[in-house]
Amino acid sequence: MKAPFDYGKVITIDFFTNRTKEMKRLEDNFINGVNTILISPRRWGKSSLVKNTAEKLIARNKKCKVVFIDLFNVLDEEEFYNEIAYETIKCTATKFEGWVDNTIKFLSKFKPSIGLSNDPLVAFDLQLSMAETSRNFKDILDLPERIAVEKKIHLIVCIDEFQNIEKFSADPLVLQKKMRAQWQHHQHVTYCLYGSKRHLMMALFEKQSMPFFKFGDTFYLEKIKEAHWLPYIQKQFLQTHKSISDELCSQIVKLMQEHPYYVQQLCQLVWLNTTKKATAEILAISIADLMDRNNALFQRDFEMLTATQVNYLKAMLHGETAFSSKEVLQRYHMGTSANIQRVVKALEDKEIINKLGKKIEFADPAFALFLKSIYHIS
Ligand SMILES: Nc1ncnc2c1ncn2[C@@H]1O[C@H](COP(=O)(O)OP(=O)(O)OP(=O)(O)O)[C@@H](O)[C@H]1O
Ligand SMILES: [Mg+2]
Repeated sequence: MKAPFDYGKVITIDFFTNRTKEMKRLEDNFINGVNTILISPRRWGKSSLVKNTAEKLIARNKKCKVVFIDLFNVLDEEEFYNEIAYETIKCTATKFEGWVDNTIKFLSKFKPSIGLSNDPLVAFDLQLSMAETSRNFKDILDLPERIAVEKKIHLIVCIDEFQNIEKFSADPLVLQKKMRAQWQHHQHVTYCLYGSKRHLMMALFEKQSMPFFKFGDTFYLEKIKEAHWLPYIQKQFLQTHKSISDELCSQIVKLMQEHPYYVQQLCQLVWLNTTKKATAEILAISIADLMDRNNALFQRDFEMLTATQVNYLKAMLHGETAFSSKEVLQRYHMGTSANIQRVVKALEDKEIINKLGKKIEFADPAFALFLKSIYHIS
């Protein structure tokens, strides 16, 4: 039987819980042409939220199409333009003939080469002349709008890992200015830009001097609250003829600090270890399994930390909050208070901690458990 929990990828609706308010906000933005900037730490559910909201919308509204662009593997400006062209052409026709027609109609200036692909994950191969894309970049940036107008549709362009545009050229501001200059005139396209490097995303959208300042509705995704996890976990167990008590569900969620990815992972392990009814012993075994599975990764992360960074994390695990106080600095050998800001910044850059407003927490609740076990902190 297939496990009723899923993690590590964009999830389908079967594994998706709550997010009702978030889906409504996103859907309203999509329908009303309001651009969205969606930000959260890693693995809190951005991609799944956008995907499921978009799918719900296009199932009901045939005049709406969604272009998904993932910048995770995109290395430079030329590739970015190629990606916009490929994904926009792909989503606005359904067959190879349609893709060829669209390419000829909208991209002939770019001396395109289009062909069938050998890669099952790629619909077709499309290559544009690099010289032409740099010369006529405006036409590429306007491609979604040009196609939307021609086909009388509303396009929603969703760009994942958007913060990567910072890496595309020596002067990222120039590219951002180009993009904003074109996109602000689009009447038939709505943008949803999302990414997990919170400080990079905030720098792009929240500084007045930046081209994307006030580009749209900035939306900070939160974790999923315990009250929403409980019915979901119960339902997934029951549907597969197993059971779990509210008490155990609550322990799982608390231990994993409501972190979507980890709650799903631990639930899956508990489910796999359970024949009929989950018990406290099964939960303990499953936590050990979780630690085993992540051990190599955590060991690597741990080895990359400096002594002061480890001391700071130990202080966090002991529940300290006044990190700059003399006692805490002395007790955890952290030198002067000037060090603290540097340590926090370094740990944030390494994605070990998340700074959410004034609150600082472990990015990874299982890594916190790993450190606790090393240092025997209960
Ligand atoms: N609404 C949800 N209900 C239940 N589980 C969820 C939900 N959203 C996300 N998850 C869990 O979190 C995992 C990560 O989700 P997703 O990949 O969408 O996050 P992300 O924020 O895009 O991550 P990344 O920053 O790595 O791109 C999913 O595989 C799933 O296990
Ligand atoms: Mg994602």
